[in-house]
Amino acid sequence: MRRRVLVLNGPNLGELGRREPEIYGPATHEELVAACVEEGLTLDLDVEVRQTDDESTYLGWLHGVDGSDVDALILNPAAWTHTSVAIRDAAAALSVPYVEVHLSNPLSREEFRHVSYTAGKAVGIVAGFGLDSYRLALRGLAQRGG
Ligand code: DQA
Repeated sequence: MRRRVLVLNGPNLGELGRREPEIYGPATHEELVAACVEEGLTLDLDVEVRQTDDESTYLGWLHGVDGSDVDALILNPAAWTHTSVAIRDAAAALSVPYVEVHLSNPLSREEFRHVSYTAGKAVGIVAGFGLDSYRLALRGLAQRGG
C-alpha cells in the first residue's frame, strides 16, 4: 500500500496565482495540488492537499492526524508560522513526522518572518523554491521512509 502524506496549507495560500506572484510565483493553489499529487505518484506516495484560512480548522486537521492513516505531513502554516503557539503545540504533538515548507524564503524577507514558531519539531525545512519546495519535501519524506 502507498504511504500517505497530508499537505496542510494555511491562510492566503488559496489566493496563489493572484497573490504577490513576484514572491510566490504564478501557479494557483489548484496547480500546487496537482504538482504535489503528481510528484507523489512518481514517489509512490498518496498525497492529499488541504488549505484553510481558519486557524481552528487547521488545528482540527492536526488533531485528527492518526498514524494509522497518515504516514507524514507537509506543513505550510503561512503567516501562522510566525505567530501561532497553538499550531506549534499541535505540530509538536503529532505522532508522525512533518516537514515545514515555504514557497518563498522567509529568512530573506521582513524580520518578522525570520522566526518560525512551527518548525521546531519538523524533521526538515524546505523554503525558497516555489512549488519545488513541496516536491523536494515529498522527496525527502519518501527517501527517509517516513
Ligand atoms: C509563506 C511565507 C510566510 O511568511 C507568508 O506569511 C506566507 C507564505 C511561503 O510559503 O512562502 O503566507 O509561508
